[in-house]
Amino acid sequence: MEENKISSGIKGIDEMLYGGINLGNIIGVVGPAGSGKTLISLQFLHSCLKQGKKCLYISANHKKKELLNHSLVYGWDFEPFINNNLLELKCLEPVQVVLRGDEFHLTSKYLDELPIIVSKIKTEIVIIDPVTDFLLLCKNEIESRSRLFNLFQIIKENGATALITAESDVDSSSTKSGIIEYAVDGLFILRRLQSADMNEILHVIQIAKMRWAKHIREIRQYDFTDKGIEVYSKYNVLLGDTGETKQRN
Ligand SMILES: Nc1ncnc2c1ncn2[C@@H]1O[C@H](COP(=O)(O)OP(=O)(O)O)[C@@H](O)[C@H]1O
Ligand SMILES: [Mg+2]
Repeated sequence: MEENKISSGIKGIDEMLYGGINLGNIIGVVGPAGSGKTLISLQFLHSCLKQGKKCLYISANHKKKELLNHSLVYGWDFEPFINNNLLELKCLEPVQVVLRGDEFHLTSKYLDELPIIVSKIKTEIVIIDPVTDFLLLCKNEIESRSRLFNLFQIIKENGATALITAESDVDSSSTKSGIIEYAVDGLFILRRLQSADMNEILHVIQIAKMRWAKHIREIRQYDFTDKGIEVYSKYNVLLGDTGETKQRN
């Protein structure tokens, strides 16, 4: 691995990046529910810890126990890294529902809580899965833009490398506001396609953006295995709405 790069933990993605992720970059991973965003973020986390990096992992939609147990299925045991202070694992609840009198109310400290955690816990790697709730809690586009840029500035000031996931809209490959896509240094787009015989859902990844770094732009297929995500250099995907199938080795 080159000195200024870090492995993504996924061989096929490293190949598409001619080595790995540039240190100091903020990478966005955008995809629909079930496309593997959490898996990619955990696989990256495990790989960074194995490379001796100190990491902060913030989960906005899973409980700690659930994440730790789920990771064991792939052979990733995070508990020793937590015990050795190499991993700070924060499972946050973006919104709480509280009962006041006989009415339920929504309360949230998340918009302030998230940047404060990122600024106080200084690590080489920051992972946020997903950042979607943070953006949804903002009242308008100007607020989400300002708060996201502030969060990214804190990450950059700490000199960290970051991977941030975000949910894309159903039947679209981008987020509602598009701010994530615009703000990140590098962007992985995850999509689901139906196979030509309509029997199967195929998962594909594309590097839509990677500032200052050479990368392969073609669409590549990936799959879920018992070792995590595997990205193939060989693919057989249905392209667009035409039903045309393209094969490549
Ligand atoms: N070992 C596995 N075999 C097959 N599919 C798997 C396996 N592990 C996870 N998956 C798939 O992973 C997806 C969930 O991935 P996840 O990272 O939680 O997605 P996201 O965070 O984008 O919602 C599910 O669609 C599930 O089918
Ligand atoms: Mg997820």
